[in-house]
Amino acid sequence: MDRILVTGGAGFIGSNFVHHLVAATDAQVTVLDKLTYAASRATLAGLPESRVRLVVGDIADAGVVEPLVAEHDAVVHFAAESHNDNSLRDPSPFVQTNLVGTFTLLEAVRKAGARFHHVSTDEVYGDLELDDPERFTEASPYDPSSPYSSTKAGSDLLVRAWVRSFGVQATISNCSNNYGPWQHVEKFIPRQITNVVAGGRPKLYGAGLNVRDWIHTEDHSSAVLTILRSGKIGETYLIGADGERNNLEVVQLILRHFGRPEDDFDHVTDRAGHDLRYAIDATKLRTELGWKPVYCDFESGLAATIDWYVAHEDWWRPHKEAVEAAYAAKGQ
Ligand code: NAD
Ligand code: DAU
Repeated sequence: MDRILVTGGAGFIGSNFVHHLVAATDAQVTVLDKLTYAASRATLAGLPESRVRLVVGDIADAGVVEPLVAEHDAVVHFAAESHNDNSLRDPSPFVQTNLVGTFTLLEAVRKAGARFHHVSTDEVYGDLELDDPERFTEASPYDPSSPYSSTKAGSDLLVRAWVRSFGVQATISNCSNNYGPWQHVEKFIPRQITNVVAGGRPKLYGAGLNVRDWIHTEDHSSAVLTILRSGKIGETYLIGADGERNNLEVVQLILRHFGRPEDDFDHVTDRAGHDLRYAIDATKLRTELGWKPVYCDFESGLAATIDWYVAHEDWWRPHKEAVEAAYAAKGQ
């Protein structure tokens, strides 16, 4: 695979993957990104111009997508509307990008015969009880809760149908919650870090007992490259790093890092339909493809992430006020 098209490559995880690809392979990389509010050109700074080019365009625009896909051996598809809270405010761009956009890409890879890897989420499986001994596996039934997760579930099903009906050479991965540098301040961990830096208090939805299974975005990238190289066509792989923490624990770790009292946060209005717990069993990826995560110590990964946000205030500060105003309007 000499020529790889990465959709959403100017976003949080897609850009990390582009850096990973450039470091780990000799591939020529094209990023196709609409540069929505969630994107940042800064994420791609420092990459060699001889290896990486950015095409600004919409994955739902067949006129852009079809000729571009035809120039590449493989497409790694990260582009999406990605934030649950936004999908509760306005689901429309989620349907357009996550469903129509994925459909448009699938039609293009069908015509071009390109390899396709679809990046998806553990949220397609719904949620687990706090005391459920089982975790999500590739055999778990689909049961998405939000407009975001239902459009991601629909996009997964489109990929599966294009494999079976048209012989498209595709794989799918469903990953747990990512953290690390360059994540938009609307998301949980960056929001709480930047609230503290800005002199405010972290905001916990409800009681804060909801559990997420955290993985460093570098580990997500290495898993996707492993699947792209050695995954079996038509197969789904779950990606996770055994990082379960409840939201209250994460907020307390952030407060402790800054030397603030552990109760120095606000409980705010809960998210509608808030999934209780996600947890990934990544045995298939580990045993069949030999992948393993490197960033296994969540506390030190979080500390490094906090330091990164402190050092990159000029990057997130321009977006902070509007994000907080949108949350405040919903009592969050
Ligand atoms: P993000 O919101 O940070 O980035 C999304 C990128 O897609 C942005 O650069 C945006 O400009 C681009 N984009 C959006 N609509 C587009 C369109 N119509 N055409 C072209 N580009 C478009 O998202 P992220 O957190 O980096 O997530 C990337 C992918 O990983 C998504 O598919 C998401 O569902 C999946 N995922 C995310 C997580 C997580 O914890 N963030 C976990 C598992 C899976
Ligand atoms: O599980 C994978 C998913 O993880 C990805 O598919 C999504 O793209 C990604 O956004 C993420 O979804 P979540 O909804 O789990 O992430 P978020 O950062 O929005 O919230 C994490 C948890 O923190 C969740 O239980 C809601 C809670 N929360 C969130 C915010 C923004 C708060 O308590 N306070 C907040 O201010």
